[in-house]
Amino acid sequence: MNSKTNSADTAGLDIENLPSHVAIIMDGNGRWAKKRFLNRIQGHEKGAQAVRKVVEAAREIGISVLTLYAFSTENWQRPKNEVIALMRLLKKFLASEKQNLFENNIRLNAIGQIERLPGDVRTALQKAMDATRHNSGMLFNLALSYGARSEIALAVRKIAEKTVAGEIDPGGITDKVVAEHLYTARMPDPDLLIRTSGEMRISNFLLWQIAYTEIFITDSLWPDFGRAEFIKIIKEYQSRERRFGKV
Ligand code: IPE
Ligand code: IPE
Ligand code: MG
Repeated sequence: MNSKTNSADTAGLDIENLPSHVAIIMDGNGRWAKKRFLNRIQGHEKGAQAVRKVVEAAREIGISVLTLYAFSTENWQRPKNEVIALMRLLKKFLASEKQNLFENNIRLNAIGQIERLPGDVRTALQKAMDATRHNSGMLFNLALSYGARSEIALAVRKIAEKTVAGEIDPGGITDKVVAEHLYTARMPDPDLLIRTSGEMRISNFLLWQIAYTEIFITDSLWPDFGRAEFIKIIKEYQSRERRFGKV
């Protein structure tokens, strides 16, 4: 990775109007592989390379928070060999990217049911998070074993416990209190949500946080997605008018 700025493709990008938080549903690895008569695992391997490019581009243009949906709570129901391969790939990615993330001043964070990940993956994740914990250039959230409904249920449970303990008054449970108990506490809501592979659905991602997020669906399959399209979508985002329910 490198942090050079002012590349030709960023011309026309309004630095004053960047989305603070970009979230991406990285979909289409399987279809990418199928089109090439490869197996799904090879699609995931290629997808990991796209992650690297997009993280680099986001950091370079000055995005504050990038959240990538890498594995959902529902994805545990995929064939065992695919789940194992994804976990192995994740571990490899974390080990190989740790240094790059550190050098590029990127802080890695994980959101989701991390306790469900295999021990060796958790260790690799913890090492990468520890190594980058003081970095301040960009927050890179990896959504792993993530499901928005269980995230909200967990928040409700925590709030209920605090209510029983007398720390929170039921009347004081506001939007803000709920938000503070999500994995994304203290982070801005996504301004922009991108989904690759053309599927018009959210697939249990950030349900609470995307209340006013601008959504872009691209037909590109995730392994084909890269810097150029990422920047193009951000420019398109900048041409949209966000109204937040007002006139
Ligand atoms: C996205 O690609 C990666 C994960 C969900 C882990 P898919 O594996 O869902 O690819 P398609 O949707 O089958 O093409
Ligand atoms: C969403 O993709 C989850 C991730 C990208 C990690 P899926 O491929 O799992 O979603 P569905 O099954 O098409 O809704
Ligand atoms: Mg998919």
